[in-house]
Amino acid sequence: MGLSKKTTPAGTRPNRNAPRAPRLAPGVAARLAATTALMAVLVDHRPLDSAVDATDGPFETLDPRERGLARAILGIALRRRGQIDDALGRFLDKALPRKSGPLPAILHVAAAQILFMDVPDHAAVSIAVETAEADRDARHFKGLVNAVLRRLTEQRDAILASQDEVRLNVPDWLYERWVKDYGAETTQAIAAAHLLEPSLDLSVKSDPEGWAEKLGGIVLPTGSVRLIAHGPIDALPGFAEGQWWVQDAAAALPAKLLGKVEGLDVADLCAAPGGKTAQLAAAGAKVMAVDINEGRLQRVRENLSRLKLQIGTIAADVETWQPNRLFDAILLDAPCSATGTIRRHPDVAVLKRPADIKALANLQASLLARATSMLVSGGTLVYCTCSLEKAEGEDQVALALASLPLVLEPIRPEEVGGVEAICRDGFLRTLPSDLPNAEPRLSGLDGFFAARFRRL
Ligand SMILES: C[S@@+](CC[C@H](N)C(=O)[O-])C[C@H]1O[C@@H](n2cnc3c(N)ncnc32)[C@H](O)[C@@H]1O
Repeated sequence: MGLSKKTTPAGTRPNRNAPRAPRLAPGVAARLAATTALMAVLVDHRPLDSAVDATDGPFETLDPRERGLARAILGIALRRRGQIDDALGRFLDKALPRKSGPLPAILHVAAAQILFMDVPDHAAVSIAVETAEADRDARHFKGLVNAVLRRLTEQRDAILASQDEVRLNVPDWLYERWVKDYGAETTQAIAAAHLLEPSLDLSVKSDPEGWAEKLGGIVLPTGSVRLIAHGPIDALPGFAEGQWWVQDAAAALPAKLLGKVEGLDVADLCAAPGGKTAQLAAAGAKVMAVDINEGRLQRVRENLSRLKLQIGTIAADVETWQPNRLFDAILLDAPCSATGTIRRHPDVAVLKRPADIKALANLQASLLARATSMLVSGGTLVYCTCSLEKAEGEDQVALALASLPLVLEPIRPEEVGGVEAICRDGFLRTLPSDLPNAEPRLSGLDGFFAARFRRL
């Protein structure tokens, strides 16, 4: 379903000079905020986090319960976008008119609730009609909103039973790429894993068993602590004391591949927000964290300060940065398409295009060459990306070995908790379908790639 650009539903943007809007009925503000944020993602192609976190955005004025509801709706609207499109399409004879404001987002937000959430149907429908009414373009279509959504409530079970949820929710171009790279069966497993809410993974400074017990989680074979249920993260025991940080269990593996780093000069290239920087610093390395984005680097400083870990930071473009010395070891966590993080960021599947992968692969090759030039001879370089695309992983290694003074140092399963499945051909290659657990909410990993080199 195409979305036309423009309107923000009335009353969602806090304008500090405007008279205070009348208090909205319970639940309406959350749906308005979800509608506006969905428009930002689908029409303006903004990452969901930036739409949600914008200080002048619609989430700013929500109370914590409304905020939680809006986030839950958005997560489902994006994670199940293909199914929602398919379901709505059954009741729409033609494409929605261009000048209908946020109408498509209003329908998606309501359909997410009707199809997948434990929300009374009448509330989802009537709030959608009210949201349409509040917008000067969408209001002409409130009859359509009412009719389409009512039919959806009536036919929900039959529609869901007829859908292939695993296939429908992945854009065709990504599905085809994954089939080419991994085969049909693994692609289905990846797509199925994307439908599950991911767990919360923590990297702890020490005593994983103790923290797992305190927080009600489990310790994974790779050493991360995994939790299902949690309230606000900063209210969990150990957060304020800087005993742990949030980091997907797969994201915690590349830094470990540098081995013993105590006392070594280590460059963490492309470091923000600093999960891997924290690991290296906690392991006793003298870390220089480099990132092109000063704002994001500030987050590294704040995170490391909470963790009481010392590091150096430099805001610089790795493509042009000239350090005044060589490093003993380097971690290059290169910018990438992030298709390995779709479980946590379902907007990635909506926002990325094939051309992005091509452009990023070129950048990665250039950053790998720059990183190699900053390394002492005999030094170790770990290259990683949170991408499922081989163009950003295995293909980069082939290129680097052909053009740079590097040899491959194969990664062994015992270095990654003995999990054989994630060690493929001497590389680390994790998939969202890896690390299955009988409790689905404790399953899965972000899709990561890492390779280790030694400089000749
Ligand atoms: C995948 S994230 C890094 C995640 C981080 N290593 C961690 O573990 O928390 C990629 C980072 O690369 C940075 N970046 C992108 N292009 C860069 C460049 N040319 N030079 C330096 N940093 C860059 C981005 O600002 C972003 O923070």
